[in-house]
Amino acid sequence: MEKRRIAILGSTGSIGTQALDVISQHPDLFEVELLTANNNADLLIQQALKFKPNHVVICNEDHYAKVNGALTSTDTKVFAGMKSVNDLVQSSAIDMVLASMVGFSGLEPTLNAIRGGKAIALANKETLVAAGSIVTRLAREYNTPIIPVDSEHSAIFQCLQGEYTQIEKLILTASGGPFRTWSIEDIAKATRAQALNHPNWDMGAKVTIDSASMMNKGLEMIEASWLFNVNPDDIEIVVHPQSIVHSMVQFTDGCLKAQLGAPDMRVPIQYALSYPQRVSLDTKRISFPELAHLDFYAPDSTRFPAIELAYAAHRMKGNMACIMNGANEIAVDAFLKDRILFHRIPQIIEKTMEKATFVPLPDIDDIYASHNQAKEIAMSLI
Ligand SMILES: NC(=O)c1ccc[n+]([C@@H]2O[C@H](COP(=O)([O-])OP(=O)(O)OC[C@H]3O[C@@H](n4cnc5c(N)ncnc54)[C@H](OP(=O)(O)O)[C@@H]3O)[C@@H](O)[C@H]2O)c1
Repeated sequence: MEKRRIAILGSTGSIGTQALDVISQHPDLFEVELLTANNNADLLIQQALKFKPNHVVICNEDHYAKVNGALTSTDTKVFAGMKSVNDLVQSSAIDMVLASMVGFSGLEPTLNAIRGGKAIALANKETLVAAGSIVTRLAREYNTPIIPVDSEHSAIFQCLQGEYTQIEKLILTASGGPFRTWSIEDIAKATRAQALNHPNWDMGAKVTIDSASMMNKGLEMIEASWLFNVNPDDIEIVVHPQSIVHSMVQFTDGCLKAQLGAPDMRVPIQYALSYPQRVSLDTKRISFPELAHLDFYAPDSTRFPAIELAYAAHRMKGNMACIMNGANEIAVDAFLKDRILFHRIPQIIEKTMEKATFVPLPDIDDIYASHNQAKEIAMSLI
């Protein structure tokens, strides 16, 4: 495998830092070309000193002087603002862009990276939820691969190696999150700390709250539908508390393929960065005798209504998933700031979906407008 020059968008986040861990284990295979962060200037500086990228961008311009001052005696050039990210992702010195910013903010740089012909390792699921038809069309036009980083989608992608046809159904597994066994009354008044306490995965705050509401699985269903061109009605969500089976594909002859492994995001991150090669990784190995049993059961849409909202939004097509995503971002943020109770998250999303303007065939300007309108409506409901 030729050495790959990697750009990491969101290098200070959970996915970004784990990607750098993978890269530090394989300096012969990967080189860091660009790192970007939003507010965490200190960590970005540390990362730049260690990995020596040619460029870093601090998106929040308030921190530019600090980052620039700290790196002034190095060969790393420091930029600020999203415009710089959008320009630099197209640099000829980059082979692959890891899209690991959180939320809708990841859409524009990912579109620009595709236009620059870069292979995309996609963690930022909101990009496909908000603008799946536009992103996948553009990727086909520029002949750029989108390789999934989300563990479920990586699992499906791995199951499909060598046979992309005759898919009957995708089965997305879900841990069920911290409220898997909670009553509807207890979920309604769950605290921020309880919602952030995920049983199996250590992730950024937004995706952890999405996991607690199970909106994460709704977003992933939409992401899977776009990535693998499968109808939402052929994607089943199954709760699997152990998070060992990362997802499955059922083929037309009734055979199932699954990908299994310990829950460690570095595995799908590395697979995306090195694809189609597999390379060694110091992740925990599964001992089947220790693994007493694996459970699977249907999700409860009464306690977790976000899943059905996502199916409804994706079946409607147009800009509805974008509206749902924008409302979810605002509701999650409000919950994290203790402004609403947990059960209000799906309520705010549903109301926003009812009130926002439906656009059946949105272009990219419609997507930005829909996102802003959904945010405004959701804010007015808080
Ligand atoms: N974490 C996981 O295990 C996991 C698994 C599957 C998929 N994902 C997906 O991967 C994406 C990243 O998740 P994460 O858990 O790594 O999130 P995270 O820990 O919150 O990190 C987000 C990263 O994006 C940057 N960022 C945030 N807002 C930004 C903005 N407005 N403009 C520019 N940069 C911004 C942050 O910068 P600062 O920290 O410097 O502010 C940080 O580097 C999400 O879409 C998530 O759904 C995550």
